[in-house]
Amino acid sequence: MNRKIVIAGNWKLHKTNQEALQLANQIKIKNTHIKKAGIIICPPFTALSEVHSVVKDCNVALGAQNVYWEKQGAFTGEISAGMIKSTGAVYAIIGHSERHQYFGETDETVNKRINAALEAGLKPIVCVGETLEEREKNITAQVVTRQIKGAFAGMSADAMKNIIIAYEPVWAIGTGKTATPDQAQEVHALIRQLISKEFGNAVADNIVIQYGGSVKPDNAESLLGQKDIDGALVGGACLDADSFTAIIAAAEKLLQA
Ligand code: PGA
Repeated sequence: MNRKIVIAGNWKLHKTNQEALQLANQIKIKNTHIKKAGIIICPPFTALSEVHSVVKDCNVALGAQNVYWEKQGAFTGEISAGMIKSTGAVYAIIGHSERHQYFGETDETVNKRINAALEAGLKPIVCVGETLEEREKNITAQVVTRQIKGAFAGMSADAMKNIIIAYEPVWAIGTGKTATPDQAQEVHALIRQLISKEFGNAVADNIVIQYGGSVKPDNAESLLGQKDIDGALVGGACLDADSFTAIIAAAEKLLQA
């Protein structure tokens, strides 16, 4: 199996169109030499089309931060997978813990969004992860198992080839507390096992499982060096072109080793 590492930047609620163009340009210019690591940036919906005009012919792919599951209709304020696809985006983050925390996301709505994204030809980056309370109760494995089973219920092995999974312990997001490489590796191995059981070894061996939660230039290499950590979903550190680029450089270095 070829080792893959994919670094995605989740811009969250940051950047006007002008600011987004500037950041996308800097990321593009600073990473022209990157050959092996995958790079994805996920600006807000409003900036997708403009950012696409910057990155369309380079090694930086574009993603959205959410999708709604209906194709069209009276759903004021929502954005369909087809609309996102039409901007040139290829990926969509689905089920981020902030969507669970503030916007009523459930395992079931995650599943609907994944199906809608796949149908429109988008590749979902599906987030799972336990809260601090769940970790302290020692139920991380149960929680992640439930989330994985719920998210991918009814999915075919073929469809799973277009999926990226991001393991993001909620207690590590935006807190500066990173899971140790061993803590992360343990859950990544569990996720790969679950995928293998449900969809077979070939899917499990090839699926990209990213880690997310306070990934920074100084911890990227040790996290990405773990056997089952195939990338990072980066929040805070992706808003600065230099720190995002340093994380990508750590991935490229590991791939060239
Ligand atoms: P963080 O966010 O890197 O700021 O912790 C990660 C994420 O929420 O995807």
